[in-house]
Amino acid sequence: MFQTDSIIIKGIAGKKTLRGEVHIKGAKNAILKAMAASILFDEAIKLQNISDTADIESMLDLLAGLGAKVKKERSKEVKRKDEEKDGGNGKKNDRNDKLFIDASNLSSTDLDPDISRSMRSSIVATGPLLARYGKVSFPVPGGCVIGARPIDLFLEAYKKMGASIVEKDGMFDITAPKGGLKGTDIFFTIQTVTGTETLMITAVLAKGTTTLRNCAMEPEIQSVAEWLNACGAKIEGAGTTTITIHGGKLLKAKKPYTAIPDRIEAASFLFLGALCADDFLVSKCEPRHLESTTNFLSNSGVPLVIGKDFIHIKGNGKLKNYSFKSTNIRTHEYPGFVTDLQPIAAVYLSQVSGESIIFETIFEGRFKYVDDLNKLGADIKIMNPREILVTGPTLCKALPAGQELTAHDIRAGFAIVLAALCAEGNSVIKNVHLIDRGYESLEKTLTSLGADVRRVHGEEVTD
Ligand code: EPZ
Repeated sequence: MFQTDSIIIKGIAGKKTLRGEVHIKGAKNAILKAMAASILFDEAIKLQNISDTADIESMLDLLAGLGAKVKKERSKEVKRKDEEKDGGNGKKNDRNDKLFIDASNLSSTDLDPDISRSMRSSIVATGPLLARYGKVSFPVPGGCVIGARPIDLFLEAYKKMGASIVEKDGMFDITAPKGGLKGTDIFFTIQTVTGTETLMITAVLAKGTTTLRNCAMEPEIQSVAEWLNACGAKIEGAGTTTITIHGGKLLKAKKPYTAIPDRIEAASFLFLGALCADDFLVSKCEPRHLESTTNFLSNSGVPLVIGKDFIHIKGNGKLKNYSFKSTNIRTHEYPGFVTDLQPIAAVYLSQVSGESIIFETIFEGRFKYVDDLNKLGADIKIMNPREILVTGPTLCKALPAGQELTAHDIRAGFAIVLAALCAEGNSVIKNVHLIDRGYESLEKTLTSLGADVRRVHGEEVTD
């Protein structure tokens, strides 16, 4: 079940009236993997700096469905901040930023099919289940509709570790050999983020040494590996293209997992700040993980001050968006230009002067948002399934009466929100539940920056 909520945004028509600070939360795409890694432990684990997003809620439900004991809590710091915000009137706020998961004694190895079909990262749990319990059953995982997103690389790797796979009616039943999964050499023909994480986690319980080559190098991978190592794992090379894991032993919860700042959330708000804000601070972020974005924005002319854990957009109100330079983008694995940000960058490029090409190298179905941007007056041509041509500056029209905009996935959803902010008049955006998957209370954050945003609760429906 989810709610068909919409949000209504009053556009600021190209003016830079927003200002304030956005505190970046923990990285959803690291937390989800650390949660799945709870299956490697023989006691409860604690996770902190957790964002209150729908995907994390779904992963909790998935683990609870396997028999894990799960609990959410608010840290003292969050409690204090909430009270300050509410003027100490005791008004409850649901934001939890700590999780406890005890997956040491699971009762099932069958992933809930509905949750799996709605969230790609559910697949991360399949590896540790297989390694620890010798079997796992799950459907083809779903998630953001941004391309075919096959799971062949996971299946090939499980087979190389000795597993047998039976596929019937869209369900996979995988069993490990007697004596458990065996360490082996695995070469990923494509750099895959979730694939790298899943096999790295799986290999912690496989017998002997596993070497993963052509691995993805996203910072979330290194962050999870460092925590697992602090709890007894032996993982070398995470954050490079070759990872070696000496496996075979359950882990001890010697240290909580503290999530690194969400680089995609931070970068999303930097684009928003560049287009819509005068004085704007993105705080509690990790600028070293944001170089592809800060480099892009600086080259384009956005005035950035980069600190140790903050990025300040200063004196931006004096600069017209059409004075910023257009630049071509080619998406790339980390540390290159992030595929998740290309829809948001497309909105940016629609506001600046000149022509830019965006070439999407990772996913072949990630331009669904273009129609909606063109409805708002953008000039974007789809050249082929991998390439668009954006001509700016445009996109300041009010949405034609009776028309709505759609959030097609998490990041395209943010892009549409940004476009609606840049435009004139009121825009209605539907499918907000997809934005909620990756951004905690986006409408509250925007309101705190001075935007006029209203959420309209819809009917509860079944997906
Ligand atoms: C992760 O997806 C992120 N999701 C995505 O973020 C992100 O867009 C993507 O990495 C790329 O950075 C999570 O971490 C939960 P991949 P993932 O496997 O791991 C192909 C968001 O908005 N491939 O690195 O699923 C695949 O089709 C989300 O937060 C195979 O061919 O992406 C793609 O072309 C959306 N076979 C390429 O690899 C496989 O078995 C890279 O995808 C696996 C992947």
